[in-house]
Amino acid sequence: MNVLHAAHLYRAYSQTIAAELECLRKQASGRKAALEIGTHMGVSAGVIAGALAEDGKLVCVDPWESLPGKEHPCFSICRRELGRQGVLAKIEFLKGFSHEVENDMPQQCDFVFVDGDHSYSGLETDWGITLRRLVPGGVVCLHDTTVPPNQPHRNPGSVAYFNEAIKQHSSFEWIDGCHSLNVLRRIA
Ligand SMILES: C[S@@+](CC[C@H](N)C(=O)[O-])C[C@H]1O[C@@H](n2cnc3c(N)ncnc32)[C@H](O)[C@@H]1O
Repeated sequence: MNVLHAAHLYRAYSQTIAAELECLRKQASGRKAALEIGTHMGVSAGVIAGALAEDGKLVCVDPWESLPGKEHPCFSICRRELGRQGVLAKIEFLKGFSHEVENDMPQQCDFVFVDGDHSYSGLETDWGITLRRLVPGGVVCLHDTTVPPNQPHRNPGSVAYFNEAIKQHSSFEWIDGCHSLNVLRRIA
């Protein structure tokens, strides 16, 4: 894949569909301090970084665990993809699971995209990270928190955690949704 991507014969892949990417672009527009948990090949990161303010920064978190003697091919694709899009200067990569690198994340964010570990406990962890960082007025976009009508089998633990613990949170208002994505704004 990496070799094919270098030769422009393979496109970076994401499960995030075009309509969800458009929703991310709209919500990230003009924001200055963004965090993405779960970056993979950088498809959503490219959209988010491109929409940020000129001086905006996006911190991308993913383990991208290195193989002996070489970096993870998805990280190579990600960096190349973001370079081709001209947004690398806006991006900082943080290699590690979110709970391992939390101390290196920005203390305050006005945009968070959570798309890492879609288990119940995985979203619980990343919601905690979000609560500690997102400023009032900021938005959080949560992938895989609604079962898409045309994909009833796609029902990870993150859907249950969203419905039980996030949906009615008193410090947030729901402002948008698309396919598997929910978007909430922090109000307090
Ligand atoms: C669905 S992919 C992300 C796709 C990307 N957001 C996009 O739309 O282009 C999920 C990624 O999350 C990463 N991941 C899984 N658990 C994680 C965690 N606890 N912290 C950070 N990243 C994690 C995986 O390595 C994988 O690359």
